Formats: sequence, C-alpha cells, structure tokens
Amino acid sequence: MNINSWVKIILDSLYDGVLIADSDYIVRYINPAYTRITQVEAEHILEKPLTDTRPGARLPYVIKSGKQLLGVPRKVGNVEYIVNMVPIMENGEIIGGISILNEVNDIYKLTEQLKQSTMTIKKLETRMKSIEKAKYVFGDIISVDKKSLDTKNLAIKIAEKGTNVLITGESGTGKELYAHSIHNGSKRQDGPFIAVNCATFDSSLLESELFGYEEGAFTGAKKGGKIGLFELANGGTLFLDEISEMNYGLQAKLLRVLQENTIRRIGGLSEISIDVRIIAATNRNLEKMIEENKFRRDLFYRIAIFPINIPPLRERKEDIKPLIDYFMNQIANELKRSINISEDVLKILYNYEWPGNIRELKNTIEFAANMTDDYNIRVDHLPKIIQAEGIKKNLIKLKPLEEVAKEAEIAEIKKAIYTYGDTVEGKKKVAKALGISLATLYNKLK
Ligand SMILES: Nc1ncnc2c1ncn2[C@@H]1O[C@H](COP(=O)(O)OP(=O)(O)OP(=O)(O)O)[C@@H](O)[C@H]1O
Ligand SMILES: [Mg+2]
Repeated sequence: MNINSWVKIILDSLYDGVLIADSDYIVRYINPAYTRITQVEAEHILEKPLTDTRPGARLPYVIKSGKQLLGVPRKVGNVEYIVNMVPIMENGEIIGGISILNEVNDIYKLTEQLKQSTMTIKKLETRMKSIEKAKYVFGDIISVDKKSLDTKNLAIKIAEKGTNVLITGESGTGKELYAHSIHNGSKRQDGPFIAVNCATFDSSLLESELFGYEEGAFTGAKKGGKIGLFELANGGTLFLDEISEMNYGLQAKLLRVLQENTIRRIGGLSEISIDVRIIAATNRNLEKMIEENKFRRDLFYRIAIFPINIPPLRERKEDIKPLIDYFMNQIANELKRSINISEDVLKILYNYEWPGNIRELKNTIEFAANMTDDYNIRVDHLPKIIQAEGIKKNLIKLKPLEEVAKEAEIAEIKKAIYTYGDTVEGKKKVAKALGISLATLYNKLK
C-alpha cells in the first residue's frame, strides 16, 4: 500500500489525527496530528503491527470484520479524543483500515454536559409529573344520601369556579378525597397538585417548605437554595391540609401571598409571581379558633369564600350500605373471591355512630374480613367496640352462659369425633381425650 506524495502532504497538514494500517495491521502512516493527540512518536509505531505497539487498538477488529466503528471515546493523559475507524476497500476486498482522531475540545465537552443536564431535567420533570398528580376524581366519591349528594354537587360547582376553597369535616369524612377531586374537576387539572400537611412541620420548616430559600439564607440552607411549594404548584393547586396547625405569623405571610399573588424566597430579594389555587382543609372549628385569636380572621375570609362542609357519616346514613358494598368489592377484587356480610351485621353497622367516619368504616370492613375463616362476615368478626355498641342498642343479644357452654361442648365433641372416628373404638378415645366417661359421652351425644 503506497501513499501518494500529494495525498501525504494533505494528510500531514490535517488538524485531525490519522493512522493508516494495512491488512496485516502493519501501520503504514501516521500524521503529525496523530502524534500531537496521542503522544505516540512515528518511530515507535510505523512499519510495526498495531497489535504489538497498541494492544488496546480496535482498528485490527475493523480491518478483520470490515465493520466501521464510529465515535469511540479515548483518553491519553489530559487529552480526550474521539476515534472513527473505517475499513479501506479495494475491489470489494479489505486492504487496510484508517483511524481518524478528533480531539475533544471544550465546546464539545460543554455540549456533552448540556446534553446530560437536559436529560436529568427531563427525567426530573417526568418524575415530578407522576408524583404531583391528584389521585381522585368526583367519580370516586360514593354518595347516595341526599345530604352527601348536595355536598358533592356543591363541590363540583366550586371546582369549576376556580376560587380558593376551605373543606371542613370531621376526621375521616373524605376531605383529602374532595381536595384531589376538586383539582381534577377544575381547569387546572393538567397543572401540578401539591399537597402539604401543615401539622407535620414546625413553623420555620413549614415556611421554608412553602416559600423556598436562596443559598445561604440561614445556617443549614442547602447549596443552590431550594424551590418552595408555591413555586412548584404554579399553574396548579396547593392543598394545605390541617391548615389550623399553621402558626399565626405564617398565616400572615400566607395571606400576603393570596393578596399579592407573588412570593419571595427566604433570603431572596425579588418577587416571584405565582398563580396558585389554594384548597385548605381542617377538622377543627376555625371560627372558634378566630375567637380565641389562634386563627386570623382576614385569612379565613380569603380562603373560606366557598366553604365545603362534609357531613359526618352518622348524618348521612344512606351512604353506609353503598360504602360497605364498595369496600367489600375492593377486597373481593383483591382476593379474587366472593365475600359476604350477614344482615344482622349490616344492621349493627347502620346504627353505629362512626366517630372515625368513612375511614373507620373502611378499616372495620377490612378488619372483619380478616377475622373470618371463609369470608362470611358475622357479628363475632366485628371489632369489640362496635359489638359493645350493638349490645347496648339491643342489636346483639348476649346468650345465657348455659347456652354458651352447651355450644362449646358440642363444638369440642365434634372436633374429637372428627379426629378419632365415629366408631366404638373411636368413641372410647374421644371420652378419654375429653376427660369424661363413655356413658357420659353417649348421654351428651343424644
Ligand atoms: N365518599 C367516599 N367514597 C369512598 N371512599 C371514601 C369516601 N370518603 C372517604 N373515603 C375514604 O375514606 C378514607 C378517609 O378519607 P380522607 O383521608 O379523605 O379523610 P379526611 O377527611 O382527610 O380525614 P383526616 O381529617 O383524618 O385527614 C380514605 O381511604 C378515603 O378514600
Ligand atoms: Mg386528611
């Protein structure tokens, strides 16, 4: 393989490194740029097999296989470069191979870094979207009773209005369910839904969660600062659960945000404008808290323009049976088997007061289903506290002890006979195991 002198002149003056080897992998040519990039001098490599001088080289593979290798990254000392390797063909035969080395410059490195960062941002964005989605829609809210139907219809209307909302109701009445559904039933449904429980943070932590902070805002502040939930919720909904637990000072800052529609990060100078709908929830009586100077009246009026009060379960009893069916269905689907509940249990559950509301009902059904052997829920499977209420209301009758003892005896004898058999020999063993005479056993069997 000869390299023409004018071709050689051209190759010698290229900025990219060039190495040419023949079909025996013998290096026939390198240009000065090759030496500049790899630090390999011509005398150490020319006319020698590449496999000896550069054992890690991939060009021999390219020459052997006829397949090109492009964009292979390499590094010598501080110099990074990218190698493109292609076979040299003549009349359909491989007569050698050529490597072209492109030194990686700063712009290339920056481009790579930029690509990486863009990818990271993309990943974070998709993750954010999947986390910050409201889970429930109005269709998930079971309501049959007139009272709860009214509540739900009001919430559907308010959802569309887009105003701030205050949801009140006892624990377990479904406030969170409503908050999600209101977001999903509003024009903001494609925007973020960010939920924060005000009771889980102390006041300074809650402030930095909500508003974010600039780098160095306080000792312990993260490098690069932190974006606040208001900013994250921009274009969507911020759900402030248990808002009664927000301290008085922070309430004033929240009010300011609602008036100005801007926030300032802690330690920050600029105002950031935001467009966020607030849904607040509480199981406490805020009016009473206002009287006690624990909740700001002005803030209350800002968020409670359209209050939604979810009635306790005991005031909408017609929801009880549909909810039981709903929760039983969920369990049946999970277990892939049928599950039943007796009429007297239904009656007890209907008459119970449900201080823990729907959450308590849900837990009760799950508890009772777990207590059964055969997924037929009977009175005995109910939590003791509900049974006690049933007894007081005369829905469950306590049995005379004599009857209880008789039932227990029958059960035990049945078990023993099942074990030892219904023969004369078996019965002897049964009597012995139960600590009675054979005559007594026969008596009882009658
Ligand atoms: N109408 C309903 N239909 C179906 N499930 C409901 C309904 N209301 C509440 N639930 C269910 O009951 C449970 C309690 O509801 P949720 O968490 O929304 O109550 P909450 O009012 O936020 O309670 P807390 O004040 O204790 O935070 C959840 O599992 C919820 O899915
Ligand atoms: Mg809740």
